[in-house]
Amino acid sequence: MKQPDRPQKGGAVNDSELQAKPRTPRAVVSSESEQLERIRTCVFPDAGSGSVDVAHQMARLIRERGDAGRTTVLGLATGSSPIRVYEELCRLHREEGLSFARVVTFNLDEYYPMDPDELQSYVRFMHEHLFDHIDIRPENIHIPDGRLDRADVYDYCQDYERLIAEAGGIDLQLLGIGRTGHIGFNEPGSTRESRTRMVTLDRLTRMDAAADFFGESNVPRRAITMGVGTIMEARELILLAWGEAKAAVVQKAVEGPVTESITASFLQSHPDVSFVLDSAAASELTRFRRPWLVTQCEWSNRMTRRAVVWLSHSLGKPILKLTDADYSEHGAGDLVTEQGPAYTINIRVFNELQHTISGWPGGKPHADDSNRPERALPFPKKALVLVPEPAGDVIGMGGTIRRLVEQGHEVHVAYLTSGGKLVSDPEARRFVDFILGIGGLMGDANEALRGFASQARRDLDGKRPGVVDSTAVRRIKGLIRQGEARAAIRLCGVDDANIDFLELPFYDTGRSRNNPLSAEDIDPLIALLETIQPQQVFVPGDLQNPGSTRRMSFEAIENAMKSLACRKASWLNDCWFWVYPEGWREWDLDEIDMAVPVSPDELDRKSEAIYQHQSQKSPTPSGARGSGEFWQRAEAVNRALAERYDRCGLAEYEGIEVFRRWKPFE
Ligand code: F6R
Repeated sequence: MKQPDRPQKGGAVNDSELQAKPRTPRAVVSSESEQLERIRTCVFPDAGSGSVDVAHQMARLIRERGDAGRTTVLGLATGSSPIRVYEELCRLHREEGLSFARVVTFNLDEYYPMDPDELQSYVRFMHEHLFDHIDIRPENIHIPDGRLDRADVYDYCQDYERLIAEAGGIDLQLLGIGRTGHIGFNEPGSTRESRTRMVTLDRLTRMDAAADFFGESNVPRRAITMGVGTIMEARELILLAWGEAKAAVVQKAVEGPVTESITASFLQSHPDVSFVLDSAAASELTRFRRPWLVTQCEWSNRMTRRAVVWLSHSLGKPILKLTDADYSEHGAGDLVTEQGPAYTINIRVFNELQHTISGWPGGKPHADDSNRPERALPFPKKALVLVPEPAGDVIGMGGTIRRLVEQGHEVHVAYLTSGGKLVSDPEARRFVDFILGIGGLMGDANEALRGFASQARRDLDGKRPGVVDSTAVRRIKGLIRQGEARAAIRLCGVDDANIDFLELPFYDTGRSRNNPLSAEDIDPLIALLETIQPQQVFVPGDLQNPGSTRRMSFEAIENAMKSLACRKASWLNDCWFWVYPEGWREWDLDEIDMAVPVSPDELDRKSEAIYQHQSQKSPTPSGARGSGEFWQRAEAVNRALAERYDRCGLAEYEGIEVFRRWKPFE
């Protein structure tokens, strides 16, 4: 995927614009490449820099209005997206004297029912992340109340609207975007005119919140939210989106038609709205995904490959049959002019794609490796697969792991976290009964074991849904996943002695949220790498939401690498790094450096390995590829990748697993 290498600001926001004055909707775009974008987008390399920028915009507004003796009315959001903005606002208050004494806030939403003290309450969230660390007056804080009687909700919502109006309206509203396209909790079907009200949450939204509530069944079905109409009345709107999971919905909201099925698309008609994105969330915008359609573009090898594959798929023609006319009639005439004729480009791209395919993921010994993705030597190799949470390994590369083992390489697998947060209470209870049964079989000698299991049983039986687990229950949930991980990876042929569970402390918080990384997370990784000294390391992708376990695992690995590079660990010179896909997004063919074919039998065995992760039921929203359990989705993704190669006119395989070369030291 092409990443913008510097912040790109479509219509940068300047100080004077922060004076809450209306602007005309986006009639003029600041560059040709943004011509399809109907909302101003500001793209930053990462969530951190984007968040700091937004916090500084908010601070300027508060200061300017404060200096003029005026109050600032902020509309605030919760969720993972604004966390770093709030962190920076707290820092500005602490270190630079930013005062919130003249700030009034209105939050977008709250689950219903919800007690403010509950872990998942947005009241609690706002206090933990912002209000407890700044000098805002308690009476200036407004958050929808999740404790109301159902009969009182309507009047309460009317009052909420009245309070906003009495405060003078919202000067600046912060928003996130859900994968359903919601703003606030305005799910698909909400109208442009909707006001503050009780709503029913979409299934996908509840699934996304499942980790916070320790299971989808604990997520409330309802919420109270400001309406689209309420939000649209704010004088300025800033929507934050980070990570590749948001890329598709951001593209629809920014470039697609205005529709009730993506409520964020209503923002297109707001006079002063910006989407602040990291490069992963912006990656589906046409100017990044298919820049040749909107502007002159630099035809790097990858970009050429992307355009050719896109042309081949959109025209339903194998690459070698594309003609000069196909290129010029579909926005890629420029490419033919620069590098043509079509035939030359076709052959080159076809060969490049062909060379990514290899049934020898550890390199083929005694073979010419000049056109193979991996080196022939050294042989055999020591390969290390780093896995954020159990199941990621077999889902992402179960077929490849098996091949590596069968081809004589020494394969190690290390799980960075236990993944225990994703085990349901009934599942844990089942295992507690099992342990108690074993305790009974063993008699009194195992009093300690029985005591532990009885405690876990009491903890589980007395637990309200969505509440933090006791230490005993956490241990059991972690062990359940470790057992599944062993069973699965054993089926791929990995030796028990080569399996490690690092249990990095950033994950083991007892809450759904992870702690920030510390040296205690990095040191065990460094120690493992130093002990194994691998020649191949497989790492998960880095484009997930900040704060997510996958993303933090990637950051921990990156930090460990940097530290090893500083120590000049000599084995690193002979080590290649490969990224395997951890999310469910199917990679485009230009993103792939190694494609490992998976035969029908291998795909069956891979599914069997994934199936060992039985505590992980995975319903997918209808319509998503491979709806169903993990193994079904993994099969569907591998088959779809094979089909893409096939449609380009390359060999037809049952399935394909894919990898991207990562050069952490360049
Ligand atoms: C939260 C809210 C929601 C979230 C959205 C994105 O107050 O209104 O619209 O902004 O669901 O959530 P995250 O940021 O967790 O991805």
